[in-house]
Amino acid sequence: MASVLATIDDGEVEEGQRTAHRFLTGIHRPMEQELTLTELEVRGTIPQTLCGRYLRTGPNPIAPDPASYHWFTGDGMVHGLAIRDGKALWYRNRWIGSHANAAARGTTPAPGPRHGPSDTVNTNVVDLAGRVFAVVEGGSYPVALSETLDEQHYDDFGGSLAGAFTAHPHRDPLTGEHHGICYEGRCPNEIRHVVLDATGTVVRQEPIAVEHGPMIHDCAITARYVIILDLPVTFSLAAHLAGQPLPYAWNSAHRARVGLMPKGSDQHAIIWCDVDPAYVFHVANAFDLPDGLVVLDVCVYPTMFAGEPGGPDATSRGLERWTLDPVSGTTIVDTIDAAPQEFPRIDERRFGQTYRYAYALATQSDRRFQSAGRLYKHDLVEGGREVHDFGADRHPGEFVFVPAHEDAGEDEGWLIGFVIDERTDTTELVILNAARFEGAPVATVRLPHRVPPGFHGNWINGGNTQ
Ligand SMILES: [Fe+2]
Repeated sequence: MASVLATIDDGEVEEGQRTAHRFLTGIHRPMEQELTLTELEVRGTIPQTLCGRYLRTGPNPIAPDPASYHWFTGDGMVHGLAIRDGKALWYRNRWIGSHANAAARGTTPAPGPRHGPSDTVNTNVVDLAGRVFAVVEGGSYPVALSETLDEQHYDDFGGSLAGAFTAHPHRDPLTGEHHGICYEGRCPNEIRHVVLDATGTVVRQEPIAVEHGPMIHDCAITARYVIILDLPVTFSLAAHLAGQPLPYAWNSAHRARVGLMPKGSDQHAIIWCDVDPAYVFHVANAFDLPDGLVVLDVCVYPTMFAGEPGGPDATSRGLERWTLDPVSGTTIVDTIDAAPQEFPRIDERRFGQTYRYAYALATQSDRRFQSAGRLYKHDLVEGGREVHDFGADRHPGEFVFVPAHEDAGEDEGWLIGFVIDERTDTTELVILNAARFEGAPVATVRLPHRVPPGFHGNWINGGNTQ
């Protein structure tokens, strides 16, 4: 996920006389070509109101060495599928033109300023103030992408970004601003709260003092606060000196705490709430309660990177509700669903506010971050969950919610994502009706190849989709 700063699993499997990396083989085997496909088979009926592109990124290394490769460090490749007037117009996949990737391919690197030792960008694709960026944490500047993905340039938001960015900036629907918590390994004593205004310019960069160089993958907001996940996975000098691809490790000496930073304030106003040691990659949502407490819904791991170097040592313990008390500085942990799951997403119009529905990818209990072939829809008001099962040998990734229209209800819309069919080595873009979650897809767009599992994607509304 980060250039050298994040990993979950680099497990290796023996394959004959050589060692084959789990994330270079099977459904993870990288694509070797950039494709432009326009004759796409559609089954079902694509909703007429969908006009835009589904973009998703992930690692797709061009020349990996299985002995040292790490899934989170692979060259970024963005996949795009454009839809308009009920038709699937095109599919394109494009590598991000980092220096290393361009050298391996004999092409020219994407232009623009660089930051940090690596310019690999492979974790998320986001719309920031009407522009599309590929983003990564802990290292490179973002990469601005044209509509067809063919034009790319590294961009520090017009010179307004002072350091590393985040893979998970969050738009505040109440203000139009975007918030992120940013870190980098060379600054172990300081992270930054970065705010972009509605034009995509950085307008605040507040330093926040920390210890040990914590890995902070995501953040949350409420109407009142920015929420900082300062949890005990921290930079490991020993791991770094040992040449491990992930110089981060579980650190039981690090105080696990969640920060409530009043919006517009600086670090001195942060209220820190202690929490029992655990790790969180992804936030579903957060919101303020009338009595001043703060709710934070997260996918949680009991530990992370506590055991064998370079690999995961924990399975998701499920979706949890953490209730933060800014008066006592404590956290109450309640389990919403103990089944392993990841990649929680919601109706982003509710981000930072009360909400009812969260969607997540079921993961296997023994292979971390590996799809269990199902999606969950959680009803956080009435309780319970629905399950969409894609069937045997089919592997969904993260699914994103797209409202049916501007004033649509919270689950009135579509869930969109890629599903790999392992038996045919192909992929479908699947469109589900979120309100009839367990029902058959309303439409699928078939791709004649396999899009390897990746990290994050989003639906980008509008455009000419040329
Ligand atoms: Fe992420």
